[in-house]
Amino acid sequence: MTDAYDPATDGAQMSYAREMSYGDYLALEGLLEGQKPLSDAHDEMLFIIQHQTSELWMRLAIHELAAARNGLAGVEIRPVFKMLTRVSRIFEQLNGAWDVLRTMTPSDYTAFRDDLGKSSGFQSHQYRRIEFMLGNRNMAMLKVHEHRPVLHAALMAEVAEKSLYHVALDRLGAAMGRDFSEYYRMEAPHQAQDAIRDAWARVYEVPQEQWELYELAEKLVDLEDYFRRWRFNHVTTVERIIGFKRGTGGTSGVQYLRRMLEVELFPELWHVRGQL
Ligand code: HEM
Repeated sequence: MTDAYDPATDGAQMSYAREMSYGDYLALEGLLEGQKPLSDAHDEMLFIIQHQTSELWMRLAIHELAAARNGLAGVEIRPVFKMLTRVSRIFEQLNGAWDVLRTMTPSDYTAFRDDLGKSSGFQSHQYRRIEFMLGNRNMAMLKVHEHRPVLHAALMAEVAEKSLYHVALDRLGAAMGRDFSEYYRMEAPHQAQDAIRDAWARVYEVPQEQWELYELAEKLVDLEDYFRRWRFNHVTTVERIIGFKRGTGGTSGVQYLRRMLEVELFPELWHVRGQL
């Protein structure tokens, strides 16, 4: 009979006290101390962790989008495809996460909703930053951050940069001998332009001629597709839990979120489909 496996002996060569541990590397102490329910309601822990994990994934999405935007402005475009795919997968992951939150009923949520005060995902600066990076720059959304100068300045800095879509349009323009920067709107959501739609149409009509742009276009559509699903899952979950009550953040709630379903991040890439 062989001896029972003893993981402690297996690691006997290690000095656990001296070496950096798993928890040190991941700063788990701080991370796992960050869940502080304000009520005794059982489901508040779920609610907190759902938001915190979403924020962590958003942090990674921002990291990837920033690198993708830099990459798109450079020469080698292929690593950008990988990053954009990763961002789509992050949203897919966040989409799956709604299934966990949906196990919370209106009765469960009502037990602690008043404790949230006016706090709302509406104030998520990382979410707003993702929207700004992608191109949905609704400046009115900055108001909720005015009392936090550092966050406000970070979002303003984002607006001073080209969006991911602007940089994609630079590439599209360069391939077509055009300059689409006249259509940039740094401090407003991008508005669909016929000239840009027609340029994407040329890419889609003969993909072999502009394969990289064709692939880029599909990566962007993928990303927006997953983002739209996130918005849809959010509004459906919200309706399921609070119906048509106003949001804690002060908006009309489901009505506001339904309006957000109409946002088009990369409008010409959707419009071009109707003319192919
Ligand atoms: C019980 C679950 C949830 C409810 C009832 C809820 C409700 C709402 C409501 C009503 C709004 C509109 C703003 C307001 O007036 O408050 C909103 C916005 C928002 N929520 Fe949630 N939410 C829930 C879960 C989540 C989760 C898990 C996240 C993940 C981070 C999230 C992120 C956001 C974001 C980013 C916005 C702003 C959307 C935009 O401006 O387009 N929410 N939420």
